[in-house]
Amino acid sequence: MYGMVNQALEALVRDKFGDGVWESVKLKAGVHEVAFVTMHEYSDEVTYKLAGALSDETGVPVPELLHAFGIYWVSFADRGPWGKLMRESGQSTYELMAALDAMHARIAMSFPALKPPSFRVRPATAGTGEPSGAMLLEYRSHRPGLAPFVVGLLEGMGQLYQERVEVKQVAAKGEAGAECDVFLVRTTANGSGAGA
Ligand code: HEM
Repeated sequence: MYGMVNQALEALVRDKFGDGVWESVKLKAGVHEVAFVTMHEYSDEVTYKLAGALSDETGVPVPELLHAFGIYWVSFADRGPWGKLMRESGQSTYELMAALDAMHARIAMSFPALKPPSFRVRPATAGTGEPSGAMLLEYRSHRPGLAPFVVGLLEGMGQLYQERVEVKQVAAKGEAGAECDVFLVRTTANGSGAGA
């Protein structure tokens, strides 16, 4: 993945766990770069090894770390040069969900080797017991294990638009014949709904 992803992971670790933990994580992961270069393409292995080493170092399971990383990624991207593009791609979580492929396609103009995921949105159909107004988000990627990252990203999008976002994974790629991950997503304006 492009260096920008590893830079965001570094920023999260330094923010939440401290500089010392980041140095130990790099050592454990066998990563010797002094700093990651935003536009340089690194092997996916680097990112997975860093996540594994962070889990060993902190005792926090990898899926939980990926979830936190998803939330963090949206605010990290928002602060950077592509923040404007992200905000212009949608005015709400649902709108941005529908625009993710177009947005990554625009980003690929600057990152030519980008291998972005692919998303498809459809309304959760009535009569299935699913809450009205909810959406189903299909997520396709050739990279394994990133579903918790997507859940965090959706929650991060909610924070961006001050919406409360509930996410439930309803299908997992490869399980019970599912060909992709599917999430049931429901948003409510912040402040409304139970427990908000
Ligand atoms: C300005 C905002 C964003 C930028 C600049 C950006 C850029 C990127 C980059 C550089 C990668 C690494 C892919 C590669 O190097 O091949 C990536 C991966 C990914 N992005 Fe985005 N992204 C943004 C926002 C989002 C949002 C809001 C979502 C919400 C779902 C999202 C979903 C993902 C996922 C799930 C991956 C992991 C790769 C995979 O699943 O195969 N991104 N993105």
